[in-house]
Amino acid sequence: MTDLRGKPPGGPGGLDDAALLSVLARYVGTARAQGILLRARTELRGRPATDSQLIARLVEGVRSFVGELESRKAFAELTRAASPKTVEAIEIDVKIEADIARARLAARDICMALGTSALILQKLATVVSELARNQVLYAGGGKLVIRPCSSGRRCMHVVGSDKGGGIKNLPEIMSGKYKSRSGLGLGILGTKRLSDKFEIETGPSGTRIEVEVNY
Ligand SMILES: Nc1ncnc2c1ncn2[C@@H]1O[C@H](COP(=O)(O)OP(=O)(O)OP(=O)(O)O)[C@@H](O)[C@H]1O
Ligand SMILES: [Mg+2]
Repeated sequence: MTDLRGKPPGGPGGLDDAALLSVLARYVGTARAQGILLRARTELRGRPATDSQLIARLVEGVRSFVGELESRKAFAELTRAASPKTVEAIEIDVKIEADIARARLAARDICMALGTSALILQKLATVVSELARNQVLYAGGGKLVIRPCSSGRRCMHVVGSDKGGGIKNLPEIMSGKYKSRSGLGLGILGTKRLSDKFEIETGPSGTRIEVEVNY
């Protein structure tokens, strides 16, 4: 397990401005968010400031535009954005049916740690279990890696890879002509529809599917 987001160097406390701005902007809009961050950074410049001192200033700024309830939510989100190191990559070896459930739980854990909505959690869990199920059924197993996208972007990255014989009828599947086994419209095409980014490479030496889900 590795820390994939780390803490890029920033101002006081070393927080990542892009991550903080993306939280602030959702509460007060981009222009105000930039103003709040700039003011907080300026006020704290040259002083030994902890992450929580910076966050307290940011929340004060947010509070002057939105109500108490919203600013408390902003506080919780800023705190999470300030400690992305707690969200690590999860790697799952997929071999048997039970591993599909494990993969689903791992997706849930990472969503909880990142504080996504229940809808996003459901989306990611579906994507992950479809990929895992295909690995078990058609490739003799494989591997899944779930991790937050690179710093400042609110998305999750999933890579499913296996050393099976590849997907023979990919064009038919992607065109929607292929009727999936369950008929639920999930499977590979469903995974693509649920994803904000989808890439697939497949051939006789295996399959690699890379997906991003924004939150
Ligand atoms: N990792 C894989 N390796 C080899 N073949 C695969 C792999 N994943 C999918 N396939 C092939 O692609 C087909 C389509 O997969 P997809 O997941 O879209 O539908 P399905 O598994 O048939 O049905 P559903 O997922 O809806 O239960 C599968 O039937 C299988 O032949
Ligand atoms: Mg399938």
